[in-house]
Amino acid sequence: MRKPFIAGNWKMNTDSHSGVKLVQDIIAGCGEIAGNKVDVAVCPPFVYLQQVGKALSSSRVALGAQDIYFEQKGAFTGEISPAMLKDVGCTYALCGHSERRHVIGETDELINKKVHAAILGGLLPILCVGELLEERKQNKTTEVVTRQMKKGLAGLTPEKVSAVTIAYEPVWAIGTGLTATPQQAQEVHALIRELMAQMYNKKIASEVRIQYGGSVKADNAGELMGQEDLDGLLVGGASLKADDFVTIIKASA
Ligand code: PGA
Repeated sequence: MRKPFIAGNWKMNTDSHSGVKLVQDIIAGCGEIAGNKVDVAVCPPFVYLQQVGKALSSSRVALGAQDIYFEQKGAFTGEISPAMLKDVGCTYALCGHSERRHVIGETDELINKKVHAAILGGLLPILCVGELLEERKQNKTTEVVTRQMKKGLAGLTPEKVSAVTIAYEPVWAIGTGLTATPQQAQEVHALIRELMAQMYNKKIASEVRIQYGGSVKADNAGELMGQEDLDGLLVGGASLKADDFVTIIKASA
């Protein structure tokens, strides 16, 4: 059985005070559910990882980074290494979020290096994939997601790939209020699981957790999670409100 996994991506939001308060409210709100029935993680901005990490240290809510760099150390101005993330208590690292692909210009090759570096550094990567609206309109969803999966996971052995969570986030649904219908999401999740079976094997395909992301809200989380191949949610906007995020976690339990 795949345990549901709900992660909150805070993006470039909160400050040192509100971030700590947010995680405290989340911990209080989900009580025994976090870590037992549902794996829960929050991904604050880099500069608040330590403070938020301290606030969640005695809970079972995990800490995640929104990005990672693939080199271990050295002259890479502005970048953050896997060891640094580990040092401040991160368990997870997002790799290839669509805002990094499409706003910052990250390529599949760079994202693949990040996935490898995260695993090497003892972190659990969440590889984000998903098509643009134009690509969906041109019926290219399968092609795009297949490419992102194959290039993103290139070179990973079966042992290593078991550390990876996949997040399917159709770009047209992120922050737009346009959620994929549960059926649209399920279709792509089934494709991703099938790709894992082709690239690895049936066991790995049946164990990999696939999150959906894109305008997940308290009132649509339950229906989305009801889909066979949906194992979790990557939540942006609604993870900034403790009540909404806790409702989403409870709906997934
Ligand atoms: P959203 O963001 O929930 O605000 O659409 C999701 C994400 O980008 O991970």
